[in-house]
Amino acid sequence: MSERCVVLYGPMGSGKSTVGEKLADTLGYDFLDLDAKIEDKAGKTITEIFEEAGESGFRQAERDAVAALAGSRNLVIATGGGAPIDPANRKVFASLGHTVYLKASPRELYQRIKNDTSRPLLAKSENPREEIARILADREQIYYEADIVIDTEELSVEEVAEQLIDELARRTVDG
Ligand code: S3P
Repeated sequence: MSERCVVLYGPMGSGKSTVGEKLADTLGYDFLDLDAKIEDKAGKTITEIFEEAGESGFRQAERDAVAALAGSRNLVIATGGGAPIDPANRKVFASLGHTVYLKASPRELYQRIKNDTSRPLLAKSENPREEIARILADREQIYYEADIVIDTEELSVEEVAEQLIDELARRTVDG
């Protein structure tokens, strides 16, 4: 593997953080969770940022955090589900290295996150199951712009990380 970064895209529940940590461990890279970075800088949780500054305030903080990543090397980065939607963010991600979409069906995504209250976009929704499907339908075309797509539906975290490592190795060999 070269020293470029691996940038994980996907909706809430797609496994960006769990797969990212596993992948970073295997590759000997550092792991960076974009939401955690935003929380550290703000000294607030994502939920608090949404409450105090609205989604637009959160998106600005997210853009700032992404811009600060420019030039990074040897990182596996778990982005927030909405981060790649902004074209300026996508440009930074593409410049960092390999972008990867971790794909799963709305049904599976809902199963993975239904008991998690840390996601303001779903916490307010009366029907989180439908909201996930709607968000995915809105964004999936952009997620598909990633260099690599892994269907995680039936796979364990380890299996996703293994597939991804194989795919990255293939790309490095093929140039
Ligand atoms: C969001 C996803 C969240 C977080 C914020 C907004 C989104 O990250 O950035 O709540 O727009 O899909 P995860 O994808 O890690 O849950």
